[in-house]
Amino acid sequence: MQSYKNVFVMDHPLIQHKLTFLRDASTGTKNFRELVSEIATLMCYEATRDLPLMDVETVTPMQKTTTKVIAGRKLAFVPILRAGLGMVDGMLNLVPSAKVGHIGLYRDHETLKPVEYYNKLPQDIEERDVIVLDPMLATGGSAIDAITIVKRSHPKSIKFLCVIAAPEGLEALTAVHPDVQVYCAAVDEKLNENGYILPGLGDAGDRIFGTI
Ligand code: URA
Repeated sequence: MQSYKNVFVMDHPLIQHKLTFLRDASTGTKNFRELVSEIATLMCYEATRDLPLMDVETVTPMQKTTTKVIAGRKLAFVPILRAGLGMVDGMLNLVPSAKVGHIGLYRDHETLKPVEYYNKLPQDIEERDVIVLDPMLATGGSAIDAITIVKRSHPKSIKFLCVIAAPEGLEALTAVHPDVQVYCAAVDEKLNENGYILPGLGDAGDRIFGTI
């Protein structure tokens, strides 16, 4: 597989195992939703590995000691509507204090320009490290546009977290936003003529919300 700068493929056995069931066409809505959430939790664990720690004094039942806590870094999760919503609860399992922004976009068929139909980000986003969420990185168009929108609010940093990435999407995203770290569980083969990832898992939004 080609390697991309700033792209991290999470090959943890638990993630890969769950991804197999996520891909399976016979997995129903309930299980699909649970799997997306569980994978998001596991990916969140890896994607927050670089959070800085600081020392604090703690008194155990035995004695005083010095231990670590996360050094005041604040996070915001920003799902891209609608499939990104499926990842939010899994992320919040590990970081319940994170704020959640939402971005909804579509591409105008004539102008090909992104149209923002929803944009609500935390007011204090300048103090936050942002993780943008979308389970599928296909052409990269939505991720690129969403990250461009988030950048306008000047967060401290931005990461992008997806479950499956297409090489085309990684190429495009890392070219436009080389400063953004991208985390995924798999890099698949290619896009088909309709922009679906192969082998992929089909339409993530439809499978999460049962709208197939
Ligand atoms: N979005 C999806 O949900 N699936 C794909 O394969 C591509 C984009």
